[in-house]
Amino acid sequence: MCNIAIFASGSGSNAENLAKHFLPNPKVKITLTASENPNAFVLQRAKRLGIPTYSFTMNELRNGIVLSKLIEQKIDFIALAGFLKMVPVDMVRHFNNRIVNIHPALLPKYGGKGMYGDRVHKAVIAAGETESGITIHHVNEHYDEGDIIFQASCPVLPNDTPETLAQRVHELEWLYYPKVIETLLEKLG
Ligand code: GAR
Repeated sequence: MCNIAIFASGSGSNAENLAKHFLPNPKVKITLTASENPNAFVLQRAKRLGIPTYSFTMNELRNGIVLSKLIEQKIDFIALAGFLKMVPVDMVRHFNNRIVNIHPALLPKYGGKGMYGDRVHKAVIAAGETESGITIHHVNEHYDEGDIIFQASCPVLPNDTPETLAQRVHELEWLYYPKVIETLLEKLG
């Protein structure tokens, strides 16, 4: 059995999609949905699905309390799904290669601190890109710089707004994030 914790800061459509994907899989359990934002809609989604929630402060993230909670809950793997904070080094080291993130653009472009959600789509449109997409990558000590596991692209259309592009990118995320995690878990054993 692999225990997964999902970390998310906002709406949580990816978190819900992951949870629903793994529900029928007896080898994988979404053990926890964690957020630094006590008002994040993801916590309501998790409660509706019967998944335990864990709301923590930034202090608790930085001083090791969150890591202790993950160890206590026997978490094996972490999926970031719209989690907007830096994962502390002790957590990255403890879960060596077992933390993944999804980013709503084709890294290494449009990544780094402050690049998340609609800000990414605004920047992509402002730069006149004709292509965007998703990147699923390992998490290391730097924002959006871990090894890339998977990318998929979609067009940026002439009349796109950040909202229409976000929708197209979200559809790629919902399609691929669960499958990529599943394959990774099989490899990790
Ligand atoms: C997703 O598009 C995800 O790629 C992005 O936040 C969105 C969360 O949507 N993550 C980042 O920008 C991380 N830098 P959701 O809350 O509906 O899953």
